[in-house]
Amino acid sequence: MRVDVVSIFPDYLSVLDLSLVGKARQRGLLDLRVHDLRDWTTDRHRTVDDTPFGGGAGMVMRPDVWGLAIDEVLDGAAGAHLIVPTPSGEVFTQRHAESLASADQLVFACGRYEGIDARVAEHYRDAGVTVHELSIGDYVLNGGEVASLVMIEAVARLIPGMVGNPDSLVEESHGAAGLLEYPVYTKPPSWADLEIPEVLLSGHHAKIERWRRDRALERTAQRRPDMIAALPVASLDKHDLALLAELGWVPDPGDDGKLTRA
Ligand code: ADE
Repeated sequence: MRVDVVSIFPDYLSVLDLSLVGKARQRGLLDLRVHDLRDWTTDRHRTVDDTPFGGGAGMVMRPDVWGLAIDEVLDGAAGAHLIVPTPSGEVFTQRHAESLASADQLVFACGRYEGIDARVAEHYRDAGVTVHELSIGDYVLNGGEVASLVMIEAVARLIPGMVGNPDSLVEESHGAAGLLEYPVYTKPPSWADLEIPEVLLSGHHAKIERWRRDRALERTAQRRPDMIAALPVASLDKHDLALLAELGWVPDPGDDGKLTRA
Protein backbone atom coordinates (compact mmCIF):
# COMPACT_ATOMS: atom_id res chain seq x y z
CA MET A 1 0.00 0.00 0.00
CA ARG A 2 1.15 3.52 -0.75
CA VAL A 3 0.44 6.23 1.86
CA ASP A 4 1.15 9.93 1.26
CA VAL A 5 0.83 12.52 4.01
CA VAL A 6 0.85 16.23 3.16
CA SER A 7 1.41 18.67 6.04
CA ILE A 8 3.04 22.01 6.84
CA PHE A 9 4.78 20.16 9.70
CA PRO A 10 6.27 17.09 8.00
CA ASP A 11 8.56 16.51 11.02
CA TYR A 12 5.46 15.79 13.08
CA LEU A 13 5.15 12.55 11.10
CA SER A 14 8.71 11.36 11.86
CA VAL A 15 7.38 8.86 14.42
CA LEU A 16 6.23 6.80 11.45
CA ASP A 17 9.85 5.56 11.25
CA LEU A 18 9.29 3.69 14.53
CA SER A 19 7.65 0.49 15.66
CA LEU A 20 5.25 -1.56 13.57
CA VAL A 21 4.75 1.05 10.87
CA GLY A 22 8.51 1.62 10.61
CA LYS A 23 9.09 -2.13 10.22
CA ALA A 24 6.39 -2.36 7.55
CA ARG A 25 8.20 0.35 5.61
CA GLN A 26 11.52 -1.48 5.92
CA ARG A 27 9.90 -4.71 4.79
CA GLY A 28 8.32 -3.01 1.78
CA LEU A 29 4.71 -3.62 2.87
CA LEU A 30 4.13 0.10 3.15
CA ASP A 31 5.40 2.80 0.78
CA LEU A 32 4.99 5.83 3.04
CA ARG A 33 5.89 9.32 1.81
CA VAL A 34 5.62 12.53 3.84
CA HIS A 35 5.45 15.87 1.99
CA ASP A 36 5.74 19.54 2.97
CA LEU A 37 2.69 21.42 1.65
CA ARG A 38 4.85 24.55 1.29
CA ASP A 39 6.75 22.84 -1.54
CA TRP A 40 3.67 23.66 -3.69
CA THR A 41 3.44 27.36 -2.79
CA THR A 42 4.35 29.84 -5.51
CA ASP A 43 4.94 33.08 -3.58
CA ARG A 44 8.00 34.42 -1.77
CA HIS A 45 6.38 33.95 1.66
CA ARG A 46 5.29 30.37 0.91
CA THR A 47 1.71 31.24 1.91
CA VAL A 48 -0.73 28.36 2.56
CA ASP A 49 -3.66 30.21 4.17
CA ASP A 50 -5.83 33.31 3.98
CA THR A 51 -8.75 35.01 5.77
CA PRO A 52 -12.20 33.34 5.60
CA PHE A 53 -14.80 34.66 3.16
CA GLY A 54 -17.83 35.75 5.21
CA GLY A 55 -15.60 36.84 8.07
CA GLY A 56 -14.83 35.16 11.36
CA ALA A 57 -11.81 34.18 13.39
CA GLY A 58 -8.74 32.35 12.14
CA MET A 59 -7.35 31.44 8.75
CA VAL A 60 -8.42 28.94 6.10
CA MET A 61 -6.03 26.88 3.97
CA ARG A 62 -6.00 27.86 0.28
CA PRO A 63 -7.48 25.36 -2.21
CA ASP A 64 -5.02 26.27 -4.99
CA VAL A 65 -1.97 25.18 -2.98
CA TRP A 66 -3.72 22.00 -1.81
CA GLY A 67 -4.85 21.25 -5.39
CA LEU A 68 -1.28 21.36 -6.73
CA ALA A 69 -0.06 19.13 -3.90
CA ILE A 70 -2.81 16.52 -4.15
CA ASP A 71 -2.66 16.41 -7.97
CA GLU A 72 1.02 15.58 -7.73
CA VAL A 73 0.88 12.93 -5.00
CA LEU A 74 -2.29 11.15 -6.23
CA ASP A 75 -1.20 8.06 -8.09
CA GLY A 76 -3.24 7.84 -11.31
CA ALA A 77 -4.04 4.22 -10.44
CA ALA A 78 -7.61 3.41 -9.37
CA GLY A 79 -8.23 2.75 -5.69
CA ALA A 80 -6.89 6.02 -4.26
CA HIS A 81 -8.63 7.45 -1.20
CA LEU A 82 -8.21 11.06 -0.07
CA ILE A 83 -8.56 11.42 3.69
CA VAL A 84 -9.11 14.83 5.24
CA PRO A 85 -8.88 14.64 9.06
CA THR A 86 -11.27 17.17 10.60
CA PRO A 87 -13.25 17.44 13.85
CA SER A 88 -16.33 18.04 11.67
CA GLY A 89 -15.95 14.67 9.93
CA GLU A 90 -17.68 11.33 10.38
CA VAL A 91 -16.16 9.49 13.37
CA PHE A 92 -13.36 7.09 12.33
CA THR A 93 -13.98 3.51 13.53
CA GLN A 94 -12.47 0.05 13.13
CA ARG A 95 -14.87 -0.42 10.17
CA HIS A 96 -13.18 2.48 8.33
CA ALA A 97 -9.76 1.00 9.19
CA GLU A 98 -10.82 -2.40 7.78
CA SER A 99 -12.13 -0.94 4.55
CA LEU A 100 -9.13 1.38 4.03
CA ALA A 101 -6.70 -1.52 4.60
CA SER A 102 -7.45 -2.85 1.10
CA ALA A 103 -6.94 0.49 -0.71
CA ASP A 104 -4.07 0.93 -3.19
CA GLN A 105 -3.25 4.43 -1.98
CA LEU A 106 -4.24 6.67 0.93
CA VAL A 107 -3.52 10.40 0.75
CA PHE A 108 -3.85 12.28 4.06
CA ALA A 109 -4.36 16.05 3.73
CA CYS A 110 -3.48 17.53 7.14
CA GLY A 111 -5.21 20.86 7.70
CA ARG A 112 -4.21 23.45 10.28
CA TYR A 113 -5.90 26.66 11.43
CA GLU A 114 -9.66 26.65 10.71
CA GLY A 115 -9.29 23.90 8.14
CA ILE A 116 -9.01 23.50 4.37
CA ASP A 117 -11.22 25.41 1.89
CA ALA A 118 -14.29 23.16 1.42
CA ARG A 119 -13.89 23.14 -2.36
CA VAL A 120 -10.90 20.79 -2.08
CA ALA A 121 -12.99 17.83 -0.88
CA GLU A 122 -15.76 18.74 -3.35
CA HIS A 123 -13.35 18.97 -6.31
CA TYR A 124 -11.75 15.56 -5.73
CA ARG A 125 -15.13 13.92 -5.11
CA ASP A 126 -16.34 15.36 -8.44
CA ALA A 127 -13.16 14.01 -10.05
CA GLY A 128 -14.08 10.48 -8.90
CA VAL A 129 -11.64 10.18 -5.98
CA THR A 130 -13.08 8.56 -2.83
CA VAL A 131 -12.90 11.36 -0.27
CA HIS A 132 -13.36 10.75 3.48
CA GLU A 133 -13.63 13.63 5.95
CA LEU A 134 -12.92 11.87 9.24
CA SER A 135 -12.70 12.81 12.91
CA ILE A 136 -10.86 10.66 15.45
CA GLY A 137 -13.16 11.74 18.27
CA ASP A 138 -15.21 14.49 19.83
CA TYR A 139 -12.41 16.86 20.76
CA VAL A 140 -10.40 19.44 18.82
CA LEU A 141 -6.70 19.06 17.97
CA ASN A 142 -4.49 21.76 16.49
CA GLY A 143 -4.30 20.04 13.13
CA GLY A 144 -4.73 16.81 11.20
CA GLU A 145 -1.24 15.40 11.84
CA VAL A 146 -1.92 13.45 15.03
CA ALA A 147 -5.27 12.28 13.64
CA SER A 148 -3.46 10.99 10.53
CA LEU A 149 -0.94 9.12 12.72
CA VAL A 150 -3.84 7.46 14.55
CA MET A 151 -5.57 6.40 11.35
CA ILE A 152 -2.34 5.22 9.66
CA GLU A 153 -1.51 2.99 12.63
CA ALA A 154 -5.05 1.57 12.79
CA VAL A 155 -5.00 0.78 9.06
CA ALA A 156 -1.37 -0.40 8.78
CA ARG A 157 -1.74 -3.16 11.40
CA LEU A 158 -4.55 -4.68 9.30
CA ILE A 159 -2.45 -4.98 6.13
CA PRO A 160 -1.82 -8.71 5.53
CA GLY A 161 1.60 -9.71 6.84
CA MET A 162 1.84 -6.78 9.29
CA VAL A 163 0.87 -8.34 12.60
CA GLY A 164 3.01 -11.36 13.54
CA ASN A 165 0.07 -13.43 14.80
CA PRO A 166 -3.16 -12.57 12.92
CA ASP A 167 -5.14 -14.40 15.65
CA SER A 168 -4.50 -11.37 17.84
CA LEU A 169 -6.77 -9.38 15.50
CA VAL A 170 -9.73 -11.73 15.90
CA GLU A 171 -10.87 -11.17 19.49
CA GLU A 172 -9.78 -7.61 20.06
CA SER A 173 -12.04 -4.72 21.08
CA HIS A 174 -14.20 -3.37 18.26
CA GLY A 175 -13.86 -6.65 16.37
CA ALA A 176 -16.61 -8.67 14.73
CA ALA A 177 -18.24 -9.63 18.05
CA GLY A 178 -19.23 -6.01 18.68
CA LEU A 179 -17.92 -6.20 22.27
CA LEU A 180 -14.97 -4.73 24.15
CA GLU A 181 -12.21 -7.23 24.85
CA TYR A 182 -12.18 -9.22 28.11
CA PRO A 183 -9.47 -8.43 30.76
CA VAL A 184 -6.14 -10.19 30.22
CA TYR A 185 -3.52 -11.46 32.71
CA THR A 186 0.02 -12.84 32.67
CA LYS A 187 2.76 -13.85 35.14
CA PRO A 188 3.29 -13.59 38.05
CA PRO A 189 0.08 -15.33 39.17
CA SER A 190 0.06 -13.34 42.42
CA TRP A 191 0.93 -9.63 42.43
CA ALA A 192 0.15 -6.83 44.89
CA ASP A 193 -2.16 -9.20 46.76
CA LEU A 194 -4.15 -9.74 43.59
CA GLU A 195 -4.71 -13.24 42.21
CA ILE A 196 -5.48 -14.47 38.70
CA PRO A 197 -9.14 -15.55 38.32
CA GLU A 198 -8.98 -19.26 39.04
CA VAL A 199 -10.77 -20.40 35.91
CA LEU A 200 -7.87 -19.10 33.77
CA LEU A 201 -5.54 -21.57 35.52
CA SER A 202 -7.97 -24.49 35.11
CA GLY A 203 -7.05 -25.50 31.55
CA HIS A 204 -10.78 -25.93 30.90
CA HIS A 205 -11.13 -24.23 27.51
CA ALA A 206 -14.92 -24.07 27.34
CA LYS A 207 -15.13 -22.58 30.84
CA ILE A 208 -12.40 -20.05 30.02
CA GLU A 209 -14.20 -19.03 26.84
CA ARG A 210 -17.48 -18.58 28.74
CA TRP A 211 -15.76 -16.57 31.50
CA ARG A 212 -14.10 -14.31 28.94
CA ARG A 213 -17.35 -13.70 27.10
CA ASP A 214 -19.14 -12.85 30.37
CA ARG A 215 -16.43 -10.35 31.29
CA ALA A 216 -16.59 -8.84 27.77
CA LEU A 217 -20.37 -8.46 28.06
CA GLU A 218 -20.12 -6.89 31.56
CA ARG A 219 -17.36 -4.52 30.57
CA THR A 220 -19.18 -3.44 27.43
CA ALA A 221 -22.47 -2.92 29.29
CA GLN A 222 -20.71 -0.74 31.84
CA ARG A 223 -18.42 1.26 29.58
CA ARG A 224 -20.15 1.28 26.19
CA PRO A 225 -23.93 0.84 26.50
CA ASP A 226 -24.18 2.13 22.90
CA MET A 227 -22.42 -1.05 21.77
CA ILE A 228 -24.84 -3.26 23.74
CA ALA A 229 -27.79 -1.45 22.14
CA ALA A 230 -26.31 -2.21 18.69
CA LEU A 231 -25.92 -6.00 19.28
CA PRO A 232 -28.24 -8.18 17.20
CA VAL A 233 -30.20 -10.38 19.63
CA ALA A 234 -29.69 -13.21 17.12
CA SER A 235 -25.93 -13.10 17.83
CA LEU A 236 -26.49 -13.86 21.55
CA ASP A 237 -26.88 -17.27 23.19
CA LYS A 238 -29.11 -18.18 26.15
CA HIS A 239 -26.32 -17.56 28.64
CA ASP A 240 -25.51 -14.13 27.11
CA LEU A 241 -29.18 -13.14 27.34
CA ALA A 242 -29.42 -14.26 30.99
CA LEU A 243 -26.32 -12.24 31.95
CA LEU A 244 -27.51 -9.20 30.02
CA ALA A 245 -30.91 -9.42 31.75
CA GLU A 246 -29.06 -9.30 35.12
CA LEU A 247 -27.26 -6.21 33.81
CA GLY A 248 -30.59 -4.61 32.89
CA TRP A 249 -30.79 -5.32 29.14
CA VAL A 250 -33.68 -7.26 27.55
CA PRO A 251 -34.78 -7.96 23.95
CA ASP A 252 -36.82 -5.02 22.67
CA PRO A 253 -40.53 -5.90 22.95
CA GLY A 254 -40.97 -3.94 19.69
CA ASP A 255 -39.02 -6.90 18.26
CA ASP A 256 -36.47 -4.88 16.26
CA GLY A 257 -33.93 -7.62 16.93
CA LYS A 258 -31.99 -5.40 19.35
CA LEU A 259 -31.77 -5.01 23.15
CA THR A 260 -33.23 -2.26 25.27
CA ARG A 261 -32.92 -1.30 28.94
CA ALA A 262 -35.36 -3.19 31.14
N1 ADE B 1 -8.29 18.02 13.47
C1 ADE B 1 -8.56 18.70 14.60
N2 ADE B 1 -9.27 17.96 15.44
C2 ADE B 1 -9.46 16.74 14.85
C3 ADE B 1 -10.15 15.54 15.21
N3 ADE B 1 -10.78 15.41 16.37
N4 ADE B 1 -10.14 14.52 14.34
C4 ADE B 1 -9.53 14.65 13.14
N5 ADE B 1 -8.88 15.75 12.75
C5 ADE B 1 -8.84 16.79 13.58
